[in-house]
Amino acid sequence: MAARGGHGMIGLIGGSGIYEALDLDDARDEHIGTPFGSPSSPITIGELDGEEVAFLARHGLDHQHAPSEVPYRANLYALKDLGAERVLSTNAVGSLREDLPPQSLVVPDQIFDRTRHRQSTFFDERMVVHMGFAEPYCPHMSEHLVEAADDVLDDGAHAGGTYVCIEGPQFSTKAESEFYRAQGWDMVGMTTVPEAKLAREAELCYATLAGVTDYDVWKDDSEVSLEEVLENAAVNEDNINEVVREAIETMPDERACDCEHALDGTINTASEAIPDEVR
Ligand code: ADE
Repeated sequence: MAARGGHGMIGLIGGSGIYEALDLDDARDEHIGTPFGSPSSPITIGELDGEEVAFLARHGLDHQHAPSEVPYRANLYALKDLGAERVLSTNAVGSLREDLPPQSLVVPDQIFDRTRHRQSTFFDERMVVHMGFAEPYCPHMSEHLVEAADDVLDDGAHAGGTYVCIEGPQFSTKAESEFYRAQGWDMVGMTTVPEAKLAREAELCYATLAGVTDYDVWKDDSEVSLEEVLENAAVNEDNINEVVREAIETMPDERACDCEHALDGTINTASEAIPDEVR
């Protein structure tokens, strides 16, 4: 299968509520092994408007992987190994802002990492690599996602915002939620770390379309309700799929960013020894 624009495959990582690939042509499921174990789910490979797409469900097809247990390294490794150059991901998030109500879509541009128990580098056992991560998402792909959303949805998607990633699986306390708001952060979720870090280490372009499912716990005098989250996730799913489809169909051929050179000139303890398989 040749990609339409002569560029590599597009990886898609579906978050909570998104367990199926868009209607891909000639779809087949691949069970792929990696040095980091098996990915979260079989990878569905197929075509969309001439673009080769590889889809995986982050939490598994039965939602069996909790946020801290998702095999993030295997997922990114497998997509890279299949030839993906760009990865679009979707996440369910709680809103920290009045003006980002449930059912809004957001393309974040910053991350605050509050996770504690996740392996967030491919290089742990082999060497130390200090890669730049000041801009955690690919700016080009993020802009493209926002444009795609503007083209297909009345309300489009909010451009930019800080995603605070908590360890979970519990939701936040009110004190935490209020603290995040006081920092000026915009949304809270459990999965963009270490995915974004690993994507950058693998020199992939990576952007996220986050669907707001709730107002977290700062706003109302109650817990985050599972019912509310599921209801809004179902509405978000349709909108997210429309945006992702449009983004893939209109994906520019060129990667107009530096993501593919993320490891060039990094400070590391054994620069010649960066394993080929993660480059
Ligand atoms: N995912 C969806 N809603 C969330 C919230 N309020 N906090 C963390 N992760 C979430």
